[in-house]
Amino acid sequence: MTDSWFLFAGFVLAVIVVAGFLRLAPLAPRRRLRRSVILLGFYAGALVLSAAQHWFHAPALATGLQIAGDLIQSLLVINLVTTAVFDLLLRACRIEYPDILHDVVVGAAYVLAFGLLMHRVGVNVTSIVATSAVVTAVVGLSLQATLGNVVGGLSLQLDDSVNEGDWIELENKTQGQVKQIRWRHTVIETRDWDTLLVPNGQLMTQAFRVLGKRTGQPVQRRTWVYFNVDFRFAPGDVIRTVDDALQSAPIEGTALEPKAHCICYDLAGDNRDSYCYYAVRYWLTDLARDSGTSSRVRERIYAALKRAQIPLAIPAKAVFVSQDDLEHRDRKRLKEFDSRLAALAAIDLFANLSEEEQRTLAASARLAPFSAREVITRQGAKAHWLYVLLKGRALVRVATSEGDERQVALLEAPNFFGEMALMTGQPREATVIAETDVECLRVDRTDLEGIIQQRPEIATEISGVLAERRVELAAVREGLDAEAKRKRLTTEHSRILNSIRDFFALK
Ligand code: CMP
Repeated sequence: MTDSWFLFAGFVLAVIVVAGFLRLAPLAPRRRLRRSVILLGFYAGALVLSAAQHWFHAPALATGLQIAGDLIQSLLVINLVTTAVFDLLLRACRIEYPDILHDVVVGAAYVLAFGLLMHRVGVNVTSIVATSAVVTAVVGLSLQATLGNVVGGLSLQLDDSVNEGDWIELENKTQGQVKQIRWRHTVIETRDWDTLLVPNGQLMTQAFRVLGKRTGQPVQRRTWVYFNVDFRFAPGDVIRTVDDALQSAPIEGTALEPKAHCICYDLAGDNRDSYCYYAVRYWLTDLARDSGTSSRVRERIYAALKRAQIPLAIPAKAVFVSQDDLEHRDRKRLKEFDSRLAALAAIDLFANLSEEEQRTLAASARLAPFSAREVITRQGAKAHWLYVLLKGRALVRVATSEGDERQVALLEAPNFFGEMALMTGQPREATVIAETDVECLRVDRTDLEGIIQQRPEIATEISGVLAERRVELAAVREGLDAEAKRKRLTTEHSRILNSIRDFFALK
């Protein structure tokens, strides 16, 4: 009897030691130790009852308590050993194992311990199992589905076909992320915030897709975004326009490699429509955020097409009723012209031009919208246009000698940029990126050249503005103080004026 109490004390000590180690490993699950504590309670109960049994004079009770005590001892040993091995040792060695493996090992050890104990007390377990065919059949049949699920869960985890965190698509097209593979079912969370419990047996018998997974490749999924443009616009032009916009700057949530690109995948859709069918294919990196990312891609497509004055197709079957006579068209054109003229006159670079000169520029200036985060012009590129910022904000960034990029200015409408390279023939001095959705007017180099040729003194006015901006850039790149900036301004002014004169061959 005293031996049993010593053994009990030993178990208590072992539980305390394991619990102490579990505390040191913050990620280890503590719930498994709870089972040992409960078993300790039963063990203590059995010991107390054994101590009191001589009052009852029931030998059968004594034997029962003895067997129960032995069984609890074995279960306690199994529990403590498996907790130490799985939760402490394997975790300390950073060996990943599926939860279900632990449960199977413990379950098998319990059955073995029970069998051995029965054998020791003279019960022939094998013959009971073998001879009770009816019991076996009933148990087998009733557990068929459950066993199927358990085996399914085990094989799913052990053959590594699906892991927690994977996105899968079931046969019925439901998509979701695998959160847990449990004994009987797999827990899947869908994008609609639903939780789906799929029996493991079912997962084993149906073909399902593991989304975005390829051996040796990052997890990303090809996603399609559709749009249509009518036949007046050549597919080559549409594809080039959209490809340029997609690849000019990264779009949040899409992979850099493979690059997002546009294809024309059908002409006229079975001759029913009078437009081409296009699709942009991009690789989605965060599979949970498919619609938001597709929406950003659509914004980029929309802005690129608008800039290139390529309208999205309108269903050909629709009947348009609009007042589109000559007078109406003229009125519309005049209104657009007036607003372009007002925008040009409002910025200081053109404020000193005569009204006639401003009108010449306004007549040829083109509207160019950009979506947020799009690169409008890149450092080092050749200049074709000067941009007048009508709406939104744009960031001016410059690559420093250390190789990183620094912001030098935040331009807010009404403003202008892209004049430096345009006026001097040098490559673009900085990269300009749309911070918000932006609307610009593009002023063509040749139109500006025509005006400067006619009135060369404009070059002097413009070079003053250019010099100020260039000194700001130099201050960022070279860390100039106020005095150095002031000196640099004077030299830059005459240098820029000379390069404008050279570039436009002015006298
Ligand atoms: P460009 O060199 O043609 O192209 C990049 C443009 O960024 C440049 O012309 C200027 O219009 C603009 N830019 C460069 N530095 C500044 C600055 N310090 N402040 C405002 N705009 C700038």
